[in-house]
Amino acid sequence: MFDRNLPFNDLPNLPPPELIIDNEILIKWGLASRNLAELNKNILRMPNPSMLINTIGLREAKTSTAIENIFTTDDELYRAISSQIREDHASSSAKEVLRYREALWGGYQLIKAEDRLTEKVLLQVFQKTKNSTQGFRPPQSLTVIRRGNSELRPGEVIYTPPRGEHIIQDKIHNLLDFLNFDTDIDPLLKMAIAHYQFEAIHPFTDGNGRTGRILNLLYLVNQGLLSQPVLYLSRYILENKADYYLLLAGVTQRAAWKPWLLFMMEAVERTAKQTNQMIDDIMDQKEVTLRFAKSKISWYSNEFNDLLFSQPYVKQERFKEVLKIKSRTTLVKYANELITHGIISSFYDKKEVYYINNDLVRILS
Ligand SMILES: Nc1ncnc2c1ncn2[C@@H]1O[C@H](COP(=O)(O)OP(=O)(O)OP(=O)(O)O)[C@@H](O)[C@H]1O
Ligand SMILES: [Mg+2]
Repeated sequence: MFDRNLPFNDLPNLPPPELIIDNEILIKWGLASRNLAELNKNILRMPNPSMLINTIGLREAKTSTAIENIFTTDDELYRAISSQIREDHASSSAKEVLRYREALWGGYQLIKAEDRLTEKVLLQVFQKTKNSTQGFRPPQSLTVIRRGNSELRPGEVIYTPPRGEHIIQDKIHNLLDFLNFDTDIDPLLKMAIAHYQFEAIHPFTDGNGRTGRILNLLYLVNQGLLSQPVLYLSRYILENKADYYLLLAGVTQRAAWKPWLLFMMEAVERTAKQTNQMIDDIMDQKEVTLRFAKSKISWYSNEFNDLLFSQPYVKQERFKEVLKIKSRTTLVKYANELITHGIISSFYDKKEVYYINNDLVRILS
């Protein structure tokens, strides 16, 4: 019998003994797969696909108090956001943004080198997410999951993960074997099953949610379902957090795999659709800007247009390089032409000048 106050050492190994993949699940799986495949094709149209994931913080930045921090390069943007938000006080989506990018790209490099999802990948993603050097939680740690999961006002215990010598190691090994070697289940469904399992094992004292959501993407990339980790699946999960919690609990308590799998397939389908829409909007805008700018500005080129649409903020230096301009006067003249026609605006940081593609910023945020 499951008791939410006792360590759930009876967590079944994978594949789930009671799993049935019925027609309804397969229909949702098909929709999710189709949209994911569409996204993969669409990614190739972008001059710089990683922009999609690198700028996830834009929305959070907008709501932060220091408005001028919006107008910096990505790196500075992230640093600014990080220093403003104390993790335990942060809203879940702001917290997600904090170290998401580092953990994701670090994990992406490592999983390519390792060629599969390994314990090393898992630990590194966790450590980057939490900016920590810890490993799996020790047997004596009293980690539990509480309702609301807020460090400020803890609610009642809803789940106690397995506890004891070796149990985390064993469960994790089983999980990794399942992901890497089980050939009976499609990888997209395996991702969803494994995500439950990872959260139920809860190998770390904190950061399990964020780590698990990054692992989802890395696994899709590793399995060739996603060519780059540009799908921000977390948004859907965070926006439906109450359901997400209930469905995870449903698997533990009633082996309710079906609603869980439907939820995760829906998450993939919707997120892939949104990302596709965003790519379409960016590419349409890119065309429109190109046509408009060429009609107004004699030197405007495709290459330059690519630059403007490869990231929302461009440093003055990059401008110079691409336009092969040496003199500052010419540069300012060129930039002013763009500004006059509303193609970019400029922003002066303490020591640098940035040019901003406002259309792109609008679409990305
Ligand atoms: N009943 C449950 N069984 C298993 N896992 C659960 C259950 N309820 C929630 N979880 C998982 O636990 C995560 C929270 O754990 P933890 O605090 O370690 O992660 P986090 O990354 O710090 O938090 P968050 O996911 O809220 O950002 C949730 O995101 C969810 O994935
Ligand atoms: Mg937490």
